[in-house]
Amino acid sequence: MTAASPNTKAEIAELLAFYASAGVDDALEDAPINRFAEAAAKSAERRPAERTPAAPRREATPESRTAPEHAPARAENPPAPLSGLDAANIPDAPARVPAAAAVPDEAQAAAARQLAARATTLDELRQHMAAFDGCNLKFTAKNLVFADGNPNADLMLVGEAPGRDEDLEGLPFVGRSGRLLDRMLAAIGLDRNSAYIANVIPWRPPGNRTPTPHETEICRPFIERQIELVNPKVLINLGGPSAKTLLNTSEGILRLRGNWRVHTTASGIAIPAMPTLHPAYLLRTPAHKKLAWRDFLEVKAKLRGLA
Ligand code: URA
Repeated sequence: MTAASPNTKAEIAELLAFYASAGVDDALEDAPINRFAEAAAKSAERRPAERTPAAPRREATPESRTAPEHAPARAENPPAPLSGLDAANIPDAPARVPAAAAVPDEAQAAAARQLAARATTLDELRQHMAAFDGCNLKFTAKNLVFADGNPNADLMLVGEAPGRDEDLEGLPFVGRSGRLLDRMLAAIGLDRNSAYIANVIPWRPPGNRTPTPHETEICRPFIERQIELVNPKVLINLGGPSAKTLLNTSEGILRLRGNWRVHTTASGIAIPAMPTLHPAYLLRTPAHKKLAWRDFLEVKAKLRGLA
């Protein structure tokens, strides 16, 4: 270790905590290791008789190149084939990534679905979520960020995931984007006593990184049950990830925003949903605030009409 390296237990713990909060959640070697080359070398060592027949080589498709690294192994979403770029370098490459790698996450998503369905009140749901150990984000977060506001409100807003301030306070949207959200709500005559606020993901991703598709799938049953239990008259999806997750669409938020959609709960209740721009995006792109303003006016009119 150099003079600047941590050498007491406390210093090492502090450094690890710093890494975790900065989003470093994997231990890697200093130099990259080509695991594909290792696998290829091992495979070449095997006797020809033991070899499995070579898999037909596949061309890279745009989907395989951009497929998320850990796409959930559900029936409608089978494990992605190795991209042609990788497969081309590996003799005897398997045509598919072994499904077993994704099975534990599917098991966690199934456990989350069961727990969420079992909750008959928001308090029970919060307790089940606090006890749930199936999402790795829980272990780097300081707090469960369940919700803020009035669970009897007509309007529910759902964001993406807590940031640092939310993690520290255990409440959604309390940082800079939260203050903008409060002003947006005030502009249509609402506040946290007349709206209910939650996130798709209830634990802060380390370093505010984007939640992975697996993490979203694991947490999805909780937010869906939360919406069902609150049963708002109107839902606002704050930003693309919330809209995509809860409205089952892959369209971008700039196309989605401003148009009414429907969120359908597990029990079949159809809730009008307005996708709009995320306050954090609006802080970076103030010229688009007028678009969000229009969306909030739509929501105000809808709430009036439903009153
Ligand atoms: N961004 C979100 O999506 N949610 C929060 O709670 C805070 C910031």
